[in-house]
Amino acid sequence: MSEGLLETAAAPSPEGFRQDALVMKDVRVTLPTGKGLLRIIRDATFHVAKGEIVALAGESGSGKSTSIMAALRLLPPGARVDGTIILDGQDVLAMPRRELRGLRAKRARLVFQDPWRSLHPMKRIGAQLVESARTADPSLSREAARELAERMLARVGIPEPASRMDSYPHEVSGGQSQRIVIAMALVAGPSVLFCDEPTTALDVTTQAQILELLRELNRELGLSIVIATHDLDVISDLADRLVVMYAGEVVEAGPTAEVLSRPRHPYTWSLLRSAPGSHEPGERLHTIEGRPPGPAESPAGCAFAARCPSVHEVCLSTRPEPRPVAPGRSAACLLTEGYGPITAGARDE
Ligand SMILES: Nc1ncnc2c1ncn2[C@@H]1O[C@H](COP(=O)(O)OP(=O)(O)OP(=O)(O)O)[C@@H](O)[C@H]1O
Ligand SMILES: [Mg+2]
Repeated sequence: MSEGLLETAAAPSPEGFRQDALVMKDVRVTLPTGKGLLRIIRDATFHVAKGEIVALAGESGSGKSTSIMAALRLLPPGARVDGTIILDGQDVLAMPRRELRGLRAKRARLVFQDPWRSLHPMKRIGAQLVESARTADPSLSREAARELAERMLARVGIPEPASRMDSYPHEVSGGQSQRIVIAMALVAGPSVLFCDEPTTALDVTTQAQILELLRELNRELGLSIVIATHDLDVISDLADRLVVMYAGEVVEAGPTAEVLSRPRHPYTWSLLRSAPGSHEPGERLHTIEGRPPGPAESPAGCAFAARCPSVHEVCLSTRPEPRPVAPGRSAACLLTEGYGPITAGARDE
């Protein structure tokens, strides 16, 4: 646990930030866009302890992918990142490019939504796994890398891994491809795995299997996992903690079960009400009216005020800061400061 972070109330460790797999503190991201330089992430603060699974949740455009890309310094040219980012004990914003490439090849690996983005269509699966292993550890012999690759293919549930090594990516299904991409990350011996909507492109059954695989890898290898998703149902059983993002800000963070059973931010509450899993079949799905402010808009008060079922006058003019609301939990809502009930839901009835 890291001193100064809000979402957990545990005592800071003597080593501070270095104990965590990832620390994002007051991170601001500005990207060049068609409308000029725009602030995409505003003062985002959260951490991922070693061996923890943390989900970044929020609607499309809330800044989940940008946060992940900032953590790995994979943002497009012209991007500006301020604040503090400590990944696997390394100060990402101060690292030379070469070391950063090493970190991404070995210790901190990224799995995209679309497995084809990570696989070379013209190279055999085995060759790609061997390359990944040997880039991470150049001292590894070709034979040892092949042996490791086969072992990891078996581990992620690929049948007949030895013969699969000779296949090309187009010869396997989408679910199998995503398993292969995870194996490609595993052969590098990572400590942190970033998964950006890793199952969105897959059917429901395959999705559940991949999530189960991630959970197993987390338990067996102590792998820390950061998973971005807009679907709360996906992560309710998987993530230890939840970081809810809205319009480029962290609005709520805390242990998943607590956040889901008793949200402390009206956005989390609305998001839960709109999740298919919270409804009986045939029941009308609640939708959150309106849309979030885009990066070019900068409301004076709370970014969620225009859509909030519990909005108060003060919310339109005062920007809420994340503050502790319970042990290990934070929320950026003025209602938590005593302005009124959190789940009034007046517009929703
Ligand atoms: N390269 C870029 N250039 C300009 N704007 C960008 C770029 N990448 C993201 N954005 C903007 O930043 C905001 C956050 O986008 P981001 O992709 O991080 O959201 P997200 O939460 O991952 O959404 P989704 O669920 O759709 O993947 C959006 O308004 C998006 O339009
Ligand atoms: Mg995204």
